[in-house]
Amino acid sequence: MRPRLRATQRGGATRDDGTAIELLTSKAVRLSVPDACLRPFRRGDEDDLVEAANDREIWKNVRDAFPHPYTRADAERWVAYNETLAPIVNFAIDCEGRAVGGAGLVIGGDVHRRTAEIGYWIGRSWWGRGLATAAVCALTELAFGELQLVRVFAGVFAHNTASVRVLEKAGFEREGLMRGWAFKDGAHVDALLYARVSLGRG
Ligand SMILES: CC(C)(COP(=O)(O)OP(=O)(O)OC[C@H]1O[C@@H](n2cnc3c(N)ncnc32)[C@H](O)[C@@H]1OP(=O)(O)O)[C@@H](O)C(=O)NCCC(=O)NCCS
Repeated sequence: MRPRLRATQRGGATRDDGTAIELLTSKAVRLSVPDACLRPFRRGDEDDLVEAANDREIWKNVRDAFPHPYTRADAERWVAYNETLAPIVNFAIDCEGRAVGGAGLVIGGDVHRRTAEIGYWIGRSWWGRGLATAAVCALTELAFGELQLVRVFAGVFAHNTASVRVLEKAGFEREGLMRGWAFKDGAHVDALLYARVSLGRG
């Protein structure tokens, strides 16, 4: 089913009432960590992306669609792909001018069109500085604000204690345990369902 807000070309998307959703392209969203922001991926990020993303410790906690090994061609494809999307839903986590991670939303379709799944990763050299937490907080606010979504959720592998901590610090609530939710790295994996809900914001 096609997500309500996903488009394959720049040019914008509209809400149910026909009003345009502003593209978040040119804006960098400052994070609560010094010298850090969320911004669109751009040409020139490729080397930083390979350096940060080519890590099995990242791959083993994310979807298989995230390549491993992560090559320069993967980075080039990712940057080019994101140049075609409107609204922008995938952001580089930029720290000190470098793309050190990523955070994105997968907006639901049909009756799920006011919800999104959030995903994120940070290059290992940048772990522990609060970047993921700050990015999740900022992206969730964009989802509730500009994108007018009411629910942002994440399925986190039950063994991924760092990510659970990120979600809890970002105000997400645990809604349940999803047994056998994924088949990852040769094993069936349970996941925890976390969500932030913003019903009644007007
Ligand atoms: C999970 C991940 C995004 C965290 O990024 P980060 O920028 O280091 O996160 P933050 O610094 O905002 O917060 C991490 C928190 O987890 C804690 N933490 C780290 N490792 C931990 C562990 N093994 N057990 C418990 N807590 C842990 C940190 O201490 C910190 O909490 P604190 O601020 O209370 O001290 C990063 O490790 C990563 O990219 N992992 C691989 C990909 C992934 O798991 N993505 C999420 C999929 S749901």
